[in-house]
Amino acid sequence: MIDIRPTLMDNIKFHFLWILLIQCVMISLPMSMSMSNLTTDQSMLLKFKNQILDLHDVLASNWSSTSSVCHWVGISCSARHGRVSILDLSEMGLKGAITPHLGNLSFLVSLNLSGNNFHGYLPKELAKLRHLELVDLSYNALNGEIPLWFGALHKVKYLILNNNTFTETIPPTLANMSNLETLDLGYNLIQGKIPYEIGDLQKLKMFREVYHLICVTVCLSLRAS
Ligand SMILES: *[C@@H]1O[C@H](CO)[C@@H](O)[C@H](O)[C@H]1NC(C)=O
Ligand SMILES: *[C@@H]1O[C@H](CO)[C@@H](O)[C@H](O)[C@H]1NC(C)=O
Ligand SMILES: *[C@@H]1O[C@H](CO)[C@@H](O)[C@H](O)[C@H]1NC(C)=O
Ligand SMILES: *[C@@H]1O[C@H](CO)[C@@H](O)[C@H](O)[C@H]1NC(C)=O
Ligand SMILES: *[C@@H]1O[C@H](CO)[C@@H](O)[C@H](O)[C@H]1NC(C)=O
Repeated sequence: MIDIRPTLMDNIKFHFLWILLIQCVMISLPMSMSMSNLTTDQSMLLKFKNQILDLHDVLASNWSSTSSVCHWVGISCSARHGRVSILDLSEMGLKGAITPHLGNLSFLVSLNLSGNNFHGYLPKELAKLRHLELVDLSYNALNGEIPLWFGALHKVKYLILNNNTFTETIPPTLANMSNLETLDLGYNLIQGKIPYEIGDLQKLKMFREVYHLICVTVCLSLRAS
């Protein structure tokens, strides 16, 4: 009869292999997680690129999966998270819609798409970008109303939307953006009164509504009168 019971040596080997396997998983897990996250950033940006027109071929060969997304033109990654933190595609001759993919750049701090030909509505997925501190979408052809969900972006200091074709009224939810220092809504098709809640923004230094530059104190005194 063949003895199929494991010998003591087999047991020791088995335990050793098991410990080795656990160690491998523990070492590789955080690495593969952070890689897949930066890979997410890359794939979202490539999908965004594929849906817009790149009139001057700025992104065409540069945004390629053969080089790290952190070395692409217009992109910076943070040292802390190793994720895309800055997207600056200002004045690059880009045309198209701002696609929902950008809402998955989870560690984005600064978004500057100023001076292009982006049109259409802002996708609600951008409300997921809770680390944003700077949003400059000025000098484009964006339309629809200024989204209510901007109120969810509490860290934003600069919200610059001038020279677009936004319509309707200023949403009172902008008053939730308690760190706002500059709010530029100038040269749009916005109508109606300034919501009185805007006066609650303690840090606001510059506010342009429709065509006029108004400082907060003037705003408040206008409101009071
Ligand atoms: C992409 O552009 C950046 C910034 O201009 C440059 O440093 C980098 O070498 C370019 N990469 C490729 C693959 O062309
Ligand atoms: C966005 O980019 C434009 C063009 O490079 C620059 O002039 C502007 O200051 C930037 N916006 C902010 C808020 O820094
Ligand atoms: C963003 O990420 C989520 C979760 O991974 C995914 O379900 C969704 O399809 C992504 N959005 C886009 C526009 O790719
Ligand atoms: C703004 O804050 C109010 C209360 O402070 C809350 O009810 C509302 O849901 C917030 N809106 C957004 C868009 O965050
Ligand atoms: C911004 O809009 C105003 C009013 O429509 C216009 O006079 C100005 O030329 C625009 N600026 C640019 C750079 O397009």
